[in-house]
Amino acid sequence: MENMELPPRPKLFDFHGVSMTHYFTDNWENIQNFQARPDDILIATYPKAGTTWVSYILDLLYFGQTAPERQTSLPIYERVPFLESDFHILPPGTELADKLSTSPRLIKTHLPVQLVPKSFWEQNCRVVYVARNAKDNAVSYFHFDRMNQADPEPGDWNNYLQRFMDGKMVFGPWYDHVTGWWERKQTHSKLHYVFYEDMVEDTGRELDRLCSFLGLSPSAEEKERVRGGVQFDTMKNNSMANYSTVPIMDFKISPFMRKGRFLPYISLSVSLSLLPSLCPPPFLCSHLSLSLSLSL
Ligand code: A3P
Repeated sequence: MENMELPPRPKLFDFHGVSMTHYFTDNWENIQNFQARPDDILIATYPKAGTTWVSYILDLLYFGQTAPERQTSLPIYERVPFLESDFHILPPGTELADKLSTSPRLIKTHLPVQLVPKSFWEQNCRVVYVARNAKDNAVSYFHFDRMNQADPEPGDWNNYLQRFMDGKMVFGPWYDHVTGWWERKQTHSKLHYVFYEDMVEDTGRELDRLCSFLGLSPSAEEKERVRGGVQFDTMKNNSMANYSTVPIMDFKISPFMRKGRFLPYISLSVSLSLLPSLCPPPFLCSHLSLSLSLSL
């Protein structure tokens, strides 16, 4: 794997009004025609908002006891297929999802809400959406783009941040993503909207909320087992969760699990003129206002 020749970094282009790369549009017909099942659970996020964390929590809740062998043999990206992906090093996400024999199927997407295949809404599937404050999300995305050869070249941080604020990122603007999904929550009652920062603050509490949304009632012992299994250091050292088996990611540049923290400090180094474009909808203010430092 180490000597695998990597394709050149992809270019961004406009796709139905959203910046995308071909890795997420090559399989578009199958994505749009994807047949969701009523018990599918869609895990939706803007990239780098805590997708893997929530995916792992759900996987442990549903299959931690019934299929313990998954924990040592199947990387998370095979347990929870990335619906719109078509990286050529793995079968496309739609194919991986179609092949899943589990019930429920856990399926990951970074699509903005308006591009999600309609069958998820027709089947009234449960959706777990994770939002992360813009600053930490941008920093995490920057480091990810440095090490992930399947995303466009990030360039330097200043230009990257400007691009982030302009919404010229794969999957489009952060703001449109978090607000689009928030608005959908108002009409789709089976959508649980989670904040990364709340998960950091009290994983146990968020686990309880998640279980209540999913209609699960694990024992206290089982919940503790899940909570322990998804702690940052545990996941960082778990090759089935930390993406270390993916050849297009260069861990010498940055690990996938980098800091996994939310540092609620305010840095005056922020230029207030930058804020309007990062300004969140009111529901994200409490998190974002605590995290205005743009330092790396
Ligand atoms: P950082 O780059 O800030 O460390 P995604 O899975 O959506 O790509 O998000 C990746 C981000 O979630 C990374 O953030 C990663 O460290 C963080 N993350 C993953 N697992 C985590 C965990 N168990 N606890 C806290 N953060 C976690």
